[in-house]
Amino acid sequence: MDGNGRWAENQGLKRTEGHKKGEAVLMDCVDACLALGEVKWLSAYAFSTENWRRAADEVRFLMGFSRDVLRRQRDVLHEKNVRIVWAGRRPRLWRSVIRELEIAEELTKDNTAMTLVMCVNYGGRAELVDAGRKLIKDAQEGKIRPEQLNEQTMSDYLYRPDMPDVDLFLRPSGEQRTSNFLLWQSAYAEMVYQDKLFPDFTPQDMYDAVLDYAKRDRRFGGTK
Ligand code: FPP
Repeated sequence: MDGNGRWAENQGLKRTEGHKKGEAVLMDCVDACLALGEVKWLSAYAFSTENWRRAADEVRFLMGFSRDVLRRQRDVLHEKNVRIVWAGRRPRLWRSVIRELEIAEELTKDNTAMTLVMCVNYGGRAELVDAGRKLIKDAQEGKIRPEQLNEQTMSDYLYRPDMPDVDLFLRPSGEQRTSNFLLWQSAYAEMVYQDKLFPDFTPQDMYDAVLDYAKRDRRFGGTK
């Protein structure tokens, strides 16, 4: 959801105003995916493990804001039959945010229209390190042997083992990098970069990204 801060600064507003607009745009993205019908998983990068480097008052705002967005939107998403899940690291994340994430997960756990992954205090490298730690622990306890580790069993150690590989990786705001998002899961993702800042993003931009994706020739390292 990149570009919230720049959008606000361009209009002479506080950066936090951009995040506020981003909330509504995120909800529009969910609606656009529901309208498309085929999109069963949508992952949103809300706060990265690197975002702690921001000014303390923006970090504080983003923590409180994430908590409030979850409180405000969980019933709305539940009504739409959307399952909410969290992917991210527990240490350092505000307890109140974890609580709201867990309430949202529990409330929506049986929903089937789509899964919305809220990536909060998420980093791709952190996820792999955390997976490695769990793996070493299981190995020490004799629960897994080295030869049992393969790409499937590795996935079992990630934050959301049921998450499929990323098909379409969409980043707005003109930046063309992954910024540590879903590193393992995006190995064969199709990258779509758009120039609009996230607060200006519309359902049509989502449809355009999907049309772009549909034209790609995916070979997964093989030949056609
Ligand atoms: C990136 O813009 C956006 C964020 C860091 C936060 C966005 C979060 C939300 C819209 C809601 C989160 C909701 C939940 C439930 C967790 P930026 O500040 O990096 O923009 P810039 O690149 O222009 O500075």
